[in-house]
Amino acid sequence: TALTLLMIITAYLLGSISSAVLICKLWGLPDPRRDGSGNPGATNVYRIGGKLPAFLTLWFDVLKGMVPVWASYFFGIEPFFLGLIAVAACLGHIFPLYFNFRGGKAVATALGAMFPVAWEMALLLIATWLLVFRISRVSSLAALVTVSLAPFYAFWIKPQYTVPVIMISVLIVWRHQANIVRLGSGQESSFRRRDQK
Ligand code: G3P
Repeated sequence: TALTLLMIITAYLLGSISSAVLICKLWGLPDPRRDGSGNPGATNVYRIGGKLPAFLTLWFDVLKGMVPVWASYFFGIEPFFLGLIAVAACLGHIFPLYFNFRGGKAVATALGAMFPVAWEMALLLIATWLLVFRISRVSSLAALVTVSLAPFYAFWIKPQYTVPVIMISVLIVWRHQANIVRLGSGQESSFRRRDQK
């Protein structure tokens, strides 16, 4: 329907707001696309500027997924299309319209999109991320393990969302290519404020 199409477009446009870039600008920090790992996401904002700007980036990116899916859920849009709206939010974050289509990896946005329709699964994903992160202290590894398990969690807890979850997991793994290469060669940057190295 027209409403579904409108929500898909809205999710993409909202996802396109690169909060890492805007928050770094606001804080007078270097551009996260050119500094640290070069990724406009909360992990890299932490490296560059520490806790508060990173926390705000994380929240804003989570909301970009959460708000359009939640609104669509209230509008009574069907589960399959809610999944597509979640994918659209992630695509906005990865290929932002207002930032030359060069965005981030969509870990936080995907998590946000999960909450309104599958909060049990979102909590399980957070627990998985935290566990791997506690052990490894590497944000990308925590994300990769979490998104690899996500389709299995979905199949188990919310089978109707398995297909969109697989689509988002594939997108996120694909966006972590450089991280995977660095992990393989032991060169991956850890989660540490750059000035405290
Ligand atoms: O969420 C992004 C994270 O998984 C990796 O970020 O900056 O280490 O490439 P980064």
